[in-house]
Amino acid sequence: MTKNVALITGSSRGLGLALARELAQDGWSLILDARGSAALQAVERELTAITQVIAIAGDITDSAHRVQLADTAHKLGGVDVLINNASTLGISPRPNLLEYPLEGLETVFRTNVIAPLALIQALNAVSALKSAARIINVTSDAGVEPYAGWGGYGASKAAFEHLSAILAAERPDWRIYWIDPGDMQTQMHQEAFPGEDISDRALPEESVPGFLRLINGDLPSGRYQASKLSKPNQEVQSQVRGMRLTLTVADFERAAALYRDGLGLPVIDQWIDETSKGVLLGAGTATLELVNKAQAAEVDAIEGSKIEAGQARLAFDVSSEQLAAAALIEHGATALSNAVLTSWHHLNQRFQAPHGVHEDIQLTLSEVVTPTTKVE
Ligand SMILES: NC(=O)c1ccc[n+]([C@@H]2O[C@H](COP(=O)([O-])OP(=O)(O)OC[C@H]3O[C@@H](n4cnc5c(N)ncnc54)[C@H](OP(=O)(O)O)[C@@H]3O)[C@@H](O)[C@H]2O)c1
Repeated sequence: MTKNVALITGSSRGLGLALARELAQDGWSLILDARGSAALQAVERELTAITQVIAIAGDITDSAHRVQLADTAHKLGGVDVLINNASTLGISPRPNLLEYPLEGLETVFRTNVIAPLALIQALNAVSALKSAARIINVTSDAGVEPYAGWGGYGASKAAFEHLSAILAAERPDWRIYWIDPGDMQTQMHQEAFPGEDISDRALPEESVPGFLRLINGDLPSGRYQASKLSKPNQEVQSQVRGMRLTLTVADFERAAALYRDGLGLPVIDQWIDETSKGVLLGAGTATLELVNKAQAAEVDAIEGSKIEAGQARLAFDVSSEQLAAAALIEHGATALSNAVLTSWHHLNQRFQAPHGVHEDIQLTLSEVVTPTTKVE
């Protein structure tokens, strides 16, 4: 039987090492890298007792090193999983952006954004990504939330997230995941909080089950959080908190009069400008949204759907967009776009119902994302 092969960058300690140990236990062949050869060799010695391990010391920003990794992957028949985990925090203590030395910033972007893409390119160039391969790009909450003092690292992770999303759009046939592993007790985290006691943070091993769901499951490309993926089964179901029927109407005023004034449905919210018009009406436990064509086209564009929603669309307010999306896809629905973070802090994604199931009525999943502040 051919063994599964994983290439994990930055695997001499921290999260990369935790992932390598777990996959070694599961019988995977491993290609590992890190710059420091002593720590990497120690990992190689430890895991060779369990599985096939090829450890190559080098800097992921070095193209010759990446070619070496890709050639090794090719010789093993290609990789089933690439985990772009190696990363740098940048300068510690973390400077604010106005004081950020630009050479340091370039190193951060070279390591956290350009090198992982370059590694994907190098593997692809020698056909070393198997057809069902998963690419897992390790990002961070700092790539989504604008925490003061996290500018260099945070901006690089935001770029890495967007790069991953675009790659997923360009290669819908691939499984591309970008995942926030959560705060972990590691050397990088200590560098982020120099001199502080970080022993209350989770060990990197606690993030591993979330990665295993991406590696072993069939979740759609997209952004994930390890903490949500690794919760016990009853908690991983996304809860639907509400449903909205959105009707695109030719005569907005008459439709509003019919339901708002006629049926007496209360106005919850409205968006009215010269061209776009929308009103959200309460309808007992559901809501009814009336929009004109311009507003419908605007929402189609924001949610990245290339197919017009048409006259009616169902929108579900869910506790976890990614889990609800996975559940819809597992039941035959098709994603019409990647999930997008809207300017009103909702994570939205558009779907088409399965063949034979109201194909004309699209579905939107919507999760409210609360901006948070990083704990210092
Ligand atoms: N720790 C957290 O709280 C946290 C939170 C969110 C996201 N993350 C992300 O999780 C991932 C793992 O972080 P971690 O906390 O486990 O970090 P870590 O403990 O510092 O480990 C980083 C690993 O990457 C290697 N590495 C660093 N730069 C490299 C380079 N240029 N080329 C090759 N290898 C390199 C390191 O070895 P050498 O130094 O010897 O090269 C080490 O093996 C990163 O992508 C990080 O951004 C971490």
